[in-house]
Order: sequence, then C-alpha cells, then structure tokens
Amino acid sequence: MEKTLVLIKPDGVERKLIGEIISFYERKNLNISALKMIKANKKAAEAHYVEHAGRDYYNSLIDYITDGKIVAMVIEGENAVKIVRKINGVTDPIEADMGSIRGKYGLSKERNLVHASDSIENAKREISIWFPEI
Ligand code: CDP
Ligand code: MG
Repeated sequence: MEKTLVLIKPDGVERKLIGEIISFYERKNLNISALKMIKANKKAAEAHYVEHAGRDYYNSLIDYITDGKIVAMVIEGENAVKIVRKINGVTDPIEADMGSIRGKYGLSKERNLVHASDSIENAKREISIWFPEI
C-alpha cells in the first residue's frame, strides 16, 4: 500500500488541532500506520526541508518547525500521497479549498498547520528521517 509522511506542525499542536487533523485522514478511510509526538531537532528539520535550502523563507521555516512539538505520522492507502495533499489543501490557506485542513483552519502561508510528502520518493526519504526505526 502507498505510504506518505504527514507532520502536524507546531502551530497545529499548539492550537489543539491534533485530533481534528487526524480525523480528516481517518474519515477518508486512510490508515495511520505509525505516529509519534516529538520536538524536531535542527538536523532532522534541515534534512526534511533540504529542497528549500537557500530560499528566502528557509531560516524561518526551520525555526518554525523546531519551535515546539510536532506530530509525525505515516499514512497508508491507495494513492495516499495525492489524497493526503488534497486533504491538506494548497500551501496558502487563502487559496486552499474550504473543505481542506488548511482552508478550514489555516491563517498563514508560512504557518499552515500540516506537511505532507509530495511524491512517493520523497515519502520514503521523509519517513526514514522521522521514523528511522521502520
Ligand atoms: O507544504 P507545501 O508542500 O504545500 O509547500 P512548499 O512550497 O513545499 O513549502 C514548504 C513549507 O515552507 C510551507 O508549507 C510553508 O510552511 C513554508 N513556506 C513559507 O514559509 N513561505 C513560502 N513562501 C513558501 C513556503
Ligand atoms: Mg512541499
């Protein structure tokens, strides 16, 4: 079954949206096959966002993701990568569909509650960062 990596970012945890966010995936009948709450260290955050190194928002993105606890999950299901991206909504909550997590709860393009892998290859890479034990 296809796997993807989801992070509930520190704003999602601080705003007490963990249960709400997980419900979006479960109600779509996707399987949560691994889950943990952690405080991301800088090394893991930099590995995770390696493709963004050098962008003007990069340093603040790393500060944001290491700022508080996050919830990391492996989600499995048919077409999990694409479906989870759709459930999350596009990066900027102003543009995101109101039925998506970012559309419903997001306020900022920078602090947009959730991350999801954008390809099967990136899902594998990201799962190995946050779940080296699996
Ligand atoms: O998360 P997603 O794949 O939708 O967006 P991205 O373009 O891959 O960017 C990764 C993350 O960087 C976003 O989710 C934002 O948290 C952050 N970002 C930002 O702070 N400012 C931007 N102009 C673009 C992205
Ligand atoms: Mg991305």
